[in-house]
Amino acid sequence: MTAFAVSAMSTAAVGVAHAQPNIALVKYWGKRDVRLNLPAAGSLSVTLKDLWTRTRVEFDAGFHHDALLLDGREDHPALRRVGACLDLLRAAAGTDCRARVETHNNFPTAAGLASSASGFAALVVATAAALDLDLEPAELSRLARQGSGSAARSIFGGFVEMHAGSRADGADAVAEPLASASDWPLEVVVAVTSRARKTTGSTDGMQHSADTSPFYPAWVASVDDDLAEARQAVARRDFEALADVSEASCLKMHAVMFSSRPALMYWSDRTLACIERVRQLRQRDGLGVFFTVDAGPQVKAVCQPADVATVAAALADLPGVERVLRTPLGEGARLVDAGSQETAGGGA
Ligand code: PMV
Repeated sequence: MTAFAVSAMSTAAVGVAHAQPNIALVKYWGKRDVRLNLPAAGSLSVTLKDLWTRTRVEFDAGFHHDALLLDGREDHPALRRVGACLDLLRAAAGTDCRARVETHNNFPTAAGLASSASGFAALVVATAAALDLDLEPAELSRLARQGSGSAARSIFGGFVEMHAGSRADGADAVAEPLASASDWPLEVVVAVTSRARKTTGSTDGMQHSADTSPFYPAWVASVDDDLAEARQAVARRDFEALADVSEASCLKMHAVMFSSRPALMYWSDRTLACIERVRQLRQRDGLGVFFTVDAGPQVKAVCQPADVATVAAALADLPGVERVLRTPLGEGARLVDAGSQETAGGGA
């Protein structure tokens, strides 16, 4: 770790990073420590390629406060969480210099497309670079987790496992890459059914489920078995096995959400229509595809490459599907040089 001296900051210190969202196949829904943002159980995800966040962080001794521009507009609600994440890196660098964060997503923000995952992964990588901190990918993952649990996974590419960890300080609650995107080149189709921001954020939703769903303890207790199944499916490149455990994990998580009081319902009738269509494509037509849904109304269909065009067309045809996005799996968060050349961060 390099010490960072504010007095040395005669010119601005800048870092630019690029990160992609990830989609959990074995879901994360619940925390064992809210303050440190420690998950109650592990999770397993795939990192996407063509949906991305690009973030530029600039520290300047002349700034009086942190500022956040999201897609060109001042974002006050998100500034508190961003500032808290900046504080962790400032503490590591020994500075209290303020920052200007400019971030851009090429997909809808906060609508269940994991913008917080790519957002905090890019923020941590860009900030570490701006502050001249030379951090291992596991350390970047630990820092990103404190911004958003799923962001810990976006530090890495391809297939990624997030460990719940057992330490009280959360040092072992980090993600780890299992296989790269090229090891098993699956693709993902996202059916966008609404661009509205979600009504209940994941932190509040998780706490509400932990407090009120009678299924919550059983859900948390079941995740380790799902993880073992999914890990093995990835190791064997067994699509059917991955499909089975992923759909089961998704539906179990939504059962916990539905059984919270009052219920958390992120689905719309359009969400259900997409799920039905994917089930038909897999069960009736024998296509290599399965669905997953997060804390929002969009449906993500994970596909074998040979079937992705058919799946995208079938979902685009459904009434209420505004658009479909198609993407291969991608790399982890990485720095982007001033000349826009990318350098590897934790990319698998
Ligand atoms: O990382 P958060 O706090 O946005 O929570 C993510 C929760 C889900 O997207 C619903 C599931 C997951 O594992 O990504």
